[in-house]
Amino acid sequence: MSDNQLFKPEERSELQRVLSRMNREQLLWLGGYISAAIDFAPAVQEHYSDPIIEPGALTQGSEHSERQEAPAAESKARCLTILFGSHSGNSEKTARLAQKEAERKGLSVKVKNMEEYNARFLKEEEQVLVVVSTHGEGEPPLAAQELHEKLAAGRGFDLSGLSFAVIALGDSSYKHFCKTGHDFADFFKRLGAKSLREVAALDTDFENELPDLLPAVIDSFAGAPAGG
Ligand SMILES: Cc1cc2nc3c(=O)[nH]c(=O)nc-3n(C[C@H](O)[C@H](O)[C@H](O)COP(=O)(O)O)c2cc1C
Repeated sequence: MSDNQLFKPEERSELQRVLSRMNREQLLWLGGYISAAIDFAPAVQEHYSDPIIEPGALTQGSEHSERQEAPAAESKARCLTILFGSHSGNSEKTARLAQKEAERKGLSVKVKNMEEYNARFLKEEEQVLVVVSTHGEGEPPLAAQELHEKLAAGRGFDLSGLSFAVIALGDSSYKHFCKTGHDFADFFKRLGAKSLREVAALDTDFENELPDLLPAVIDSFAGAPAGG
């Protein structure tokens, strides 16, 4: 495809105008920036609906960028990501009920299966609720294994911008009761994240606990009106 087909004439001249004002270093930097944006594009766009490069970002000054960032920062404060790791569906069901409670309280919620969640997005999150069961003899369910391993290794994760809570599902007849939930809490803390409350360790009667527990857990996140 030629550049005539890719860009409208006014877009081409706008690009040429911007590029012609740049020196060699700026052009080299821009080349790297654009190839990183291309590599990153499919995963990021699956995660966030915003385009990689804001329309006009190349042509606007810093005043424009600041104006663009303010609403994003404001809305992020009311965002919650719920990550569930489940084998037989109990943690997923709990995660969906937590989602309903959080949305009822005005939070904007994303629910993600750990199995499909890319660990590198964690550093972009500000508030995370982990809902995870324990299987085997104190092992994570298969769906949570990869994330568990990555966080246990811990390399390259700075989670100091993250606040979190954990709901751990298990069975107290097992020796390692709710171990995976405690593991996640320990990994997050070690990587600099802020724990909002003690791990909520739920036994086989977990469904009886949820009506009281979920409002309390959701109230611990910013953006949820306490007691609302
Ligand atoms: C084979 C098997 C092993 C389990 N091992 C543990 C364990 O080590 N510790 C624990 O607290 N619960 C254990 N459990 C209980 C589960 O964590 C519990 O049933 C939980 O509600 C399952 O949630 P899920 O459907 O989201 O996976 C085990 C359950 C099964 C079936």
